[in-house]
Amino acid sequence: MRPLSPGAASFFQSFRATRKGELHLHLEGSISTGTLVRLSTRFRNPAFPSAEEVSRRKRLHGPSSFLELYRDVCRCLKSSADYAEVARDLAQRLRRERIAYAEVYVSPAVVERIGLSWSEVQGALETVFAGHEAAGAGRIVVLLDSVRQWGPETAERVLDLHESSPWPRVAGFGLGGDETALPAREFRRVFDRVRSLALAPLIHAGEWGGADGVAEAVEVLKPVRIAHGIRAVEDAAVVRLLARRHLPLDICIASNVATGAVLDGRNHPVLRLLRSGVPVSLSTDDPGLFGTTLRGEFVRLALLGASGRELRTVLAASRRGALRPFSPPGPARRSRGTFPPSPRR
Ligand code: ADE
Ligand code: ZN
Repeated sequence: MRPLSPGAASFFQSFRATRKGELHLHLEGSISTGTLVRLSTRFRNPAFPSAEEVSRRKRLHGPSSFLELYRDVCRCLKSSADYAEVARDLAQRLRRERIAYAEVYVSPAVVERIGLSWSEVQGALETVFAGHEAAGAGRIVVLLDSVRQWGPETAERVLDLHESSPWPRVAGFGLGGDETALPAREFRRVFDRVRSLALAPLIHAGEWGGADGVAEAVEVLKPVRIAHGIRAVEDAAVVRLLARRHLPLDICIASNVATGAVLDGRNHPVLRLLRSGVPVSLSTDDPGLFGTTLRGEFVRLALLGASGRELRTVLAASRRGALRPFSPPGPARRSRGTFPPSPRR
């Protein structure tokens, strides 16, 4: 790691006051340790009996231990009120960091798998998110998420739920989970439907899977952005493809180190991708589980050697890549932050 350049140091002086966005954030992964222990210990044999146990589980040994942790966190959510509690943790964190705009993955597939009603959970989340916006704390946009290893049928079910009762806060649809479980081409029809429902297609790729999986996702599913995408760096042709198509990567440095997607944080490829002309934004992914902040992500980038100009470019990429304008709709807040024109409603 290198010392911060003067340009980078001055970037951080104004960071707190700057209107910031993050485009890659999972609701369930935003749970605080306190909430996790409280929700878990309501039942016999809790998975997370104490903060110490949460810390122990957060010491990951690769993607499978992360996916198991995530599964166990989701299993603690037993009602729409529990979901609302996690949403309040998320909103509190956004306020603390003064994040003006967040795109949040919410997974109806997980909601149904744990036996809850999507419409009730959706209603509970809407109350929290609308309250956050009404208080002037920033805009929250929802990305519906399905779990890649649960296959195209589960993804279709998520789209059925959305089609039968569209939630205006939803702007996109993405696939998370284990990208190595099924190739992108299995979801071609799902993504055709995503577009026909006027949702922006997104996908996790190039996190635990290689550059070929990124190329396949790009060519077959035509996403508007890719979550992670870092392993594109392993194939210069795939990097050129991303740069040529101006296809943004929503990169999460701390997450990549924690899950073992990158073995040594000092060699994280984010700067190489940026300097090859790939649009890059930074996000926290699962801030409750990785204990990271958006500022922390930018500090990591600066320590990798980013200049003040590069930090500003990455910050601006979150606006450029956002599916909607930073300011929530409504007469009082319409005037700021509408740059640049891309598909938005
Ligand atoms: N769901 C939540 N965090 C994830 C990640 N880092 N990769 C894939 N799916 C996820
Ligand atoms: Zn993610």
